[in-house]
Amino acid sequence: MAALTIAADAAALADLAAERVTRHLEETLAARGIAMVSLTGGSTPRVLYEHLADPERPWRRRIDWSRLQLFWGDERYVPPDHPDSNFAMAQRALIAHVPVPPSSIHPMPTSSGDPAADAAAYAMTIDSLVRTRDRAAVTFDLLLLGLGEDGHIASIFPGSPLLAPDAHLASAAAAVWASHLHAWRLTLTPAVLTASAAILVITEGAAKAAAVHAAVEAPLDVSRYPVQLLRSAGDRVEWLVDRAAARLIDG
Ligand code: 6PG
Repeated sequence: MAALTIAADAAALADLAAERVTRHLEETLAARGIAMVSLTGGSTPRVLYEHLADPERPWRRRIDWSRLQLFWGDERYVPPDHPDSNFAMAQRALIAHVPVPPSSIHPMPTSSGDPAADAAAYAMTIDSLVRTRDRAAVTFDLLLLGLGEDGHIASIFPGSPLLAPDAHLASAAAAVWASHLHAWRLTLTPAVLTASAAILVITEGAAKAAAVHAAVEAPLDVSRYPVQLLRSAGDRVEWLVDRAAARLIDG
């Protein structure tokens, strides 16, 4: 079963998340010499990224940035310098301030004008660098996720075709039309997300309380609450939430 750790408030949550990420990276680098990391967008992780990059805080110097490979779990279909871009957010908050080699940074492509073609190209990137033959059963060493108020993770929204029993899930990435946002998104597919060795879901605020409850305690209805996909990953999932987001959780 997934672990759930509750922080007193948003500031404590950011510290907790930075410590957990750093410890996962230290352990992975000690064991494998390289770490495949999938980053997330959204507002909560921005503070985490700023903490990790901050030379005045303890985490930046504990991480061997030269041995990380960075990927993204989902992306808005906008140019890489657009204010809505998940890549741009991570670039500003983290990557610009740490020595990750440029060749180790793998953003989702969003420039061809053809979301499906860009998703297919990213699937090839994932297949060649992450889903390699010797590690077919494991994808990322560390997957970071946020949680939407509607229970979405990455860009797998309620009712998503990616959740249909007959969905074509062999591809590692897909383009999805988010009709409620009137926008295209690119996202990794459920099997790739849930095959990660460690999955940290970081979320805060009272508006997320119902989604956290649905994720952890509600009866299974994955089409309504895509986050319930993570139940199949069992104890590889750790929830980091603040008290407000945890208020509907029993015990
Ligand atoms: C995105 C995400 C998405 C996000 C949640 C939570 O690009 O929007 O990757 O899945 O993590 O919507 O976002 P917040 O942290 O901003 O609430």
